[in-house]
Amino acid sequence: MARLHILNGPNLNLLGTRQPEVYGATTLADIEQMARAVAQDLGHEISFQQTNHEGALVDAVHAARDADGLIINAGAYTHTSVALLDAVLSVGVPTIEVHLSNVHAREDFRHVSYLAKGALGVIAGFGATSYNLAIQALHAHLAGT
Ligand code: DQA
Repeated sequence: MARLHILNGPNLNLLGTRQPEVYGATTLADIEQMARAVAQDLGHEISFQQTNHEGALVDAVHAARDADGLIINAGAYTHTSVALLDAVLSVGVPTIEVHLSNVHAREDFRHVSYLAKGALGVIAGFGATSYNLAIQALHAHLAGT
């Protein structure tokens, strides 16, 4: 059994009502419920967290230093935060970056990810399923497959 921490950044608390044409109708609570079910099926335990604050994201990555894997949707901080990249590099926990939307099909500023330099991989564009795919990817990584 692995311990996976799922960390969500700014504005993701508003999923369900936030730009539904981009992010769909699924709430963050729905995503958490689905992620817990997927993790449980694979025999893993997850913790799930959201904050709107960059420093709190850094603190959360530090607090997850003993986790076996990290899944991060850093929202807009993906595209701006060297501090968050440094936090991920500092703890050395296998990390997957996720996005609900296909950031590469959107504005140019969303094509840049600082976080990706510290990630095993990036999953974007599959809505809430992006999180489930990230859990499966970490499962495969941790199993060495
Ligand atoms: C997002 C994409 C980001 O560009 C945006 O700032 C978000 C959400 C996504 O999940 O698609 O807040 O991370």
